[in-house]
Amino acid sequence: MPFHLLDAMHREGFEEVRALHDRRSGLRAFLGVHDTARGPAFGGIRRWEYRDESEALLDCLRLARAMTRKCALAELPAGGAKLVVLAKSGVDWNGAYRYIGRAVEAMGGRFYTGPDVGTGDSELACVAEETAFVTKPGPAGPGALAESTAQGVFHSIATCLRHLDGEENWTARTVCVQGLGAVGSHLARFLMERGVHVLGADVDTERATVMEQELGIELVDPNLALDQSCDVLAPCALGGLLHDVTLERLRCRIVAGGANNVLARRLHGDRLHERGILYAPDFIVNSGALIRGALFHLDDHREPAEAIGERIGGTLETVLERSRAEDATPLRVAVAEADERILAWREASG
Ligand SMILES: NC(=O)c1ccc[n+]([C@@H]2O[C@H](COP(=O)([O-])OP(=O)(O)OC[C@H]3O[C@@H](n4cnc5c(N)ncnc54)[C@H](O)[C@@H]3O)[C@@H](O)[C@H]2O)c1
Repeated sequence: MPFHLLDAMHREGFEEVRALHDRRSGLRAFLGVHDTARGPAFGGIRRWEYRDESEALLDCLRLARAMTRKCALAELPAGGAKLVVLAKSGVDWNGAYRYIGRAVEAMGGRFYTGPDVGTGDSELACVAEETAFVTKPGPAGPGALAESTAQGVFHSIATCLRHLDGEENWTARTVCVQGLGAVGSHLARFLMERGVHVLGADVDTERATVMEQELGIELVDPNLALDQSCDVLAPCALGGLLHDVTLERLRCRIVAGGANNVLARRLHGDRLHERGILYAPDFIVNSGALIRGALFHLDDHREPAEAIGERIGGTLETVLERSRAEDATPLRVAVAEADERILAWREASG
């Protein structure tokens, strides 16, 4: 079926979608600006080997839209955007990221960008040569992004435990952290400090062993992370983890982690609910880095990671209470709540 971009933009309420092509560096990218009704749009730069440009464009639209929902639930004066770059050989990447920097600068502050899959400190340093509307690596930037995300996951887990059991009772809990990278390792440390029994899994065995030695966690086979009997599964690796097949393997009571798009599709949230597993919506749980970055850029202020975590825990608590009152899944409530807020701010902005 042909894909009609303008129809999709109309359906999803997009403001602008741009195709970026730099003859000199070979860059090919899409920039989707979903919403600036409440403030500038925030979204990182994802560089990925997409099958073709349709897949890249769809990913751009989906991620930009999700960012607006993230901003809405985090009550930030900001909206969502995303820049996706088609990874391929033969591109002058330093030149490509500088080109992106100039494109961002030309938008005059309507769009702020930052890290995402495939775009780290060295790429952002190139973007930052051309624009200030980027999350700079190092001391000039907001810092503590992964730690803020991990604090959000930690406080979300606490909220889920209180929601189900009325208490955290950390020392009686087992949490399985899948992915011991920037977010997962901070999370594992916060949990160990509370006396939680932490199981950890990473496909990078060297990294896993370092984490075992540094933190004292118990390592499990990464292929069996989903099968662990535990209170909480915290996915902190890649998205698309839970689908028709993998979902049936779970032996946990709660899923709350840092990864984006943990569920392959929204209906998998319903399936988890039917199985009696509490799913904390990823776009609430992992909003710590966005909050830290947005407050840094818009308020010139580095919000402590702990305070960000508490704020996220509070947002999730409101959603879980509404979910219980309305007998709806937390995911559906979170999406409805976000969309209500987006509609209200669009009406207020005329
Ligand atoms: N860093 C942030 O602040 C932030 C913010 C929002 C969302 N996220 C999301 O959280 C997730 C983790 O981010 P990160 O910054 O920690 O990334 P990272 O690359 O530092 O860590 C990911 C880790 O997961 C491991 N991994 C990959 N596949 C795995 C598998 N199948 N089983 C077990 N381990 C596996 C990798 O080896 C790596 O150590 C990503 O999905 C990211 O998009 C991160």
